[in-house]
Order: sequence, then structure tokens, then C-alpha cells
Amino acid sequence: MKGSLIMQIIVADNYDSMSKRAANIIASQITLKPDSVLGLATGATPTGTYQELVRIYQEGRISFNDVVTFNLDEYYGLERVNEQSYWYYMYQHLFQHVDIKMENVYIPNGRAADVEAECRDYEEKISTRGGIDLQLLGIGRNGHIGFNEPDIQFEALTHLVKLDNETIEANSRFFSSIDEVPREAISMGIKTIMKSKKILLLASGEEKAKTVYRMLNHKITPELPASILQLHQAVTVILDKAAAALLVAATYKKL
Ligand code: PGA
Repeated sequence: MKGSLIMQIIVADNYDSMSKRAANIIASQITLKPDSVLGLATGATPTGTYQELVRIYQEGRISFNDVVTFNLDEYYGLERVNEQSYWYYMYQHLFQHVDIKMENVYIPNGRAADVEAECRDYEEKISTRGGIDLQLLGIGRNGHIGFNEPDIQFEALTHLVKLDNETIEANSRFFSSIDEVPREAISMGIKTIMKSKKILLLASGEEKAKTVYRMLNHKITPELPASILQLHQAVTVILDKAAAALLVAATYKKL
């Protein structure tokens, strides 16, 4: 089955222009709804977006004072203060630079003793805060979103994930050795992501080109988790030229 393609696809000239475009979308979300609930992502792809958002904040154009955030995922087993934790990443790249209230920041607790309770609790908190208005996503080379790895079924809600070898290998670039990469993570599920009112997916670099092409053209299958986004009503995809290389240029809006 192939879903109806209702995504807005933007091809930016390069990584910087992709990041600026993404930051503008997030900034306008915050401007229009100052108490927005943002879903946030980590990894190499969104660092430029956060940098640009911080710049917009420093110019006094937006405030995070009433913004609430939920991160997609966290490595299981890492303390917040571990430099490889996603908590640490978010603090370094965004939270320490803006006026967000830390009580409005939610990231799964990678050290939770009762993981099932942590996952249930995370879902409840998202609901209590009114659901996610805008979810930022990257995409793994294997087509994962959050840490929803290729599988025989879509995992609906926040859950403990066993990371794919491909993901462990890809993420080892952030660690001093591959042995240090955690083997598990807590991740929002596919339903959690799909319930977001709007989704903004970013991809940069030629190593993502094939995955991006498949995300948009492949049948919808848990073996390619990002393919589910074909069924979401409000997805914007921002690519740099390298990530868009396999798409037919004329079909997509050019910046
Ligand atoms: P990356 O990760 O931005 O570091 O490429 C993306 C992802 O794995 O979702």
C-alpha cells in the first residue's frame, strides 16, 4: 500500500540554509503559540537549527518562557551529566542559551529503575501537556525516526528499544569507541510521533539520499519506519541538495 503524499518538501541549497529554514518554522510556531509543546530531536542534523534558534532568541525575536519540550529519545543507562546523553546534548545546544524553564523540559530518564513506568509516565505527561504541536525529526540511514528501528511491526508508544547494529555504528562517531555506545534507548513510539499536530523532518548529506527517497516512495512498512510519515496530515521535509539528490528536482519546491 502506498500512502497519499501530502508532504511539503523543501530543498535548501546547503546545510546552513536547511537549518535556517527549520529554525524559522520553529520560531514562527513559538510566535503564534508562545506556550507551544515542541517535540525535539538530537543528532548531528539539528545542531544548526538549534544554533539558529538561539540566534533568533538572542535577537529578542522569540521567548521560550512558556514553551514545553519533549525529546524523542534518550540512551538507556546514561546519566544526564554524561556528555553523550541526549539531556546533555539538549542542554549544550539549546536549553542553556535560552529562557526555557527547566520544569518544562522533558527527556526520557535513561536511568529509570522501572522502565515501563517511565515510558507510561512519559506518554501521560505528553497528554497532560496537551500533545505535541510541532515535532522535529531527523532520520537514520536505516529509516528510523526517534529510535524506532526497522522491525516487523510498528511500536506504538514510548518504549525500550534495542538499537540496530547500523545505528550503533552510525552513532559511534560521537563516542571514543563503538563499545561505549549504549545498546538500548527509550524512545517515543510511532503513534506518539504520529499524534503530533505537525512534523518537521530534516535530512542532510548524500548518505541520507537513498533513505529519503525510500521514505517518500516506498510502501508503508515498519521495515522502513519513516515511511509511516506518508500518512501524516502535516509534514514538512527540509533537505539539503545532497539529501535530495535522488528526488526528481522539478517535483519539489526549490528555495
Ligand atoms: P544524525 O541522526 O542527525 O546524527 O544523522 C539522525 C537520526 O539518527 O535520526
